[in-house]
Amino acid sequence: MSAMQLVALHGYPLDHRMWDPLAERAAGGRLGPITSVFAPDLRGRGRSAHPAAPLHAMALLADDVARDIEAALPANEPFLLAGLSMGGYVCFEIVKRHGARFRGRLKGLALFDTKAAADDDAGRAGRKAAIEAIRKDGIEAALSAMLPKMLARGSKGTAAEDLVRRMVLATPPATAMADLAGLAVRDEGFDVLSAWDRPLLVAVGDEDAIAPPSDAEAMTAVAARAPWVKLLTVPGAGHMAPLEQPDEAAAGLAELAEAAQRT
Ligand code: MLT
Repeated sequence: MSAMQLVALHGYPLDHRMWDPLAERAAGGRLGPITSVFAPDLRGRGRSAHPAAPLHAMALLADDVARDIEAALPANEPFLLAGLSMGGYVCFEIVKRHGARFRGRLKGLALFDTKAAADDDAGRAGRKAAIEAIRKDGIEAALSAMLPKMLARGSKGTAAEDLVRRMVLATPPATAMADLAGLAVRDEGFDVLSAWDRPLLVAVGDEDAIAPPSDAEAMTAVAARAPWVKLLTVPGAGHMAPLEQPDEAAAGLAELAEAAQRT
């Protein structure tokens, strides 16, 4: 098999720009067999053709992305699917809902700074409070809640932090509230991972405070049917490993793509 595309899904409350460092590396031949990155904006933001809905169920976002893939990628072109945090939850739904359709094309899965567990009661209460804070104070409430948790100590004051701030502030408040409502009712993803039978990369920043390394370990632990599994702990990264340490993320993705070519 020759070149492949990477379909990369952003987290909450971000957009496609978080994947720019990897897209640049793919274009420069520094992502192994991955020659380009298709990073759609999820519903209700940026360049997405899909308008915001009252509740962004992960299944709804997955159906959008499946349509985006059909429209943007040449038919039958192989691809790898990657997601960061909320993007990872959307990946689980794509595999569940569209896995059969993409069976011959979807060659591997990369999960960055995400988790397979669903929200517990405390998590759901936190989402409700976050929605009310955005309703009252606008998207700045999401920025002040998220930014302190999103980056490693060494990323503070960098261009990565500046981009995270700009992405959060560019997210329409109604979109962020709908995302939070969808995150609160999402399903767990362990069933998808235990059935997954293609290469799997799970990457996590060693300072990720939102989806810590223990969540990454729990995901690889159930992936018994995958022919190749790599748990990559990225030093000096928080919740945004592909943006904070793109060279480490690129190396992991190149390995995943090579494994996908072999299997
Ligand atoms: C994200 O980065 O997408 C969110 O932190 C996900 C979450 O809050 O569960």
